Amino acid sequence: MRKQIAAANWKMNLTLKEGLKLINEILEAKIFMEPTQEAVFAVPFPYLIDTKNAIADTPNFYVAAQNCASEKQGAYTGETSAQMINSINIPYVIIGHSERREYYQETNEILAKKINLALANNLTPIFCCGESLKIRQSDKQNEYVQKQLGESLFHLSEEQISKTIIAYEPIWAIGTGLTASSEQAQEMHAHIRKILADKYGSVVAENISILYGGSVKAINAVDIFSQPDVDGGLVGGASLVANEFITIIKSLKKIQ
Ligand code: 13P
Repeated sequence: MRKQIAAANWKMNLTLKEGLKLINEILEAKIFMEPTQEAVFAVPFPYLIDTKNAIADTPNFYVAAQNCASEKQGAYTGETSAQMINSINIPYVIIGHSERREYYQETNEILAKKINLALANNLTPIFCCGESLKIRQSDKQNEYVQKQLGESLFHLSEEQISKTIIAYEPIWAIGTGLTASSEQAQEMHAHIRKILADKYGSVVAENISILYGGSVKAINAVDIFSQPDVDGGLVGGASLVANEFITIIKSLKKIQ
């Protein structure tokens, strides 16, 4: 049974005080979660431990790092290794967000190294993929996403890919207020699941959670999450507003 996940990506927003206030407002809502549902908070590095402590007594709530280094350890000033993240008991790490690909030149090859280090250090990677508007307009999105998955993930074993979460985030829908329609999201998610099935078999593919990201909000979350191959969302802007994110968590599918 694959997990349904509402993941908040705070990006480079909020002070520690503002972040903890937001977390506490979400905790106060005492959201009922099914065993197959999770809320994940990808917060800036300096807030990881405090956020983990804040949610420690709340079942099905987890914390994620937003990135990890592509090298194991050593003289890489300013970097944070997968081992370091694991050493403070953080279970998740976002890898390959489009903002990192664009502003920090992270290539599919670099991301493959990060994925390997994350898995070797018992972190669950949330691997982001997704096309630009130009690629979508030339109707090349399927091949583009297939290449991203192929070059960063398809060296993994069946066991390793089973531990990985995928987030499809069309770049044209990130922070723009433009959302992929639920049909466009479903179409791409089904495509990703088919690529995974062709490589690893349908049993493995059926158990991998594929999240949608790009202008998910309280008003569109049920529509998007109800699609059969959409297993929740990776949420930017709306995750910074308590009521928005509470509704988004409550919009996760209930799988019996
Ligand atoms: P928005 O929800 O602000 O569009 O951001 C999506 C995103 O990039 C999540 O990782």
